[in-house]
Amino acid sequence: MPQITVVNQSGEETKVEAEEGRTLMETIRDNGFDELLALCGGCCSCATCHVHVDPAFADKLPAMSEDEDDLLDSSDHRDDNSRLSCQIPITAALEGMKVTIAQED
Ligand code: FES
Repeated sequence: MPQITVVNQSGEETKVEAEEGRTLMETIRDNGFDELLALCGGCCSCATCHVHVDPAFADKLPAMSEDEDDLLDSSDHRDDNSRLSCQIPITAALEGMKVTIAQED
């Protein structure tokens, strides 16, 4: 099980165990981070699961779909490391990754 570090909106870091086959959004939400709203439940239609991903892991993530790209454009907090966490499946390659929950829009 890969271990991932989640940084909340206050900057506090917590290490969580991530189960392969689930999404990063489910992993963060199910570890009690209420600030990750994930309102659409992972359908790639709300952008409330926005995170900033450690750039060192960018090439280990699936390519961004047009839908994800469009949704992220609606956020004032988008940067080069922005992704929607519901679009990222947990794999062993993500061991040690750090993700920061984006500030609320
Ligand atoms: S949970 Fe809605 S877009 Fe990810």
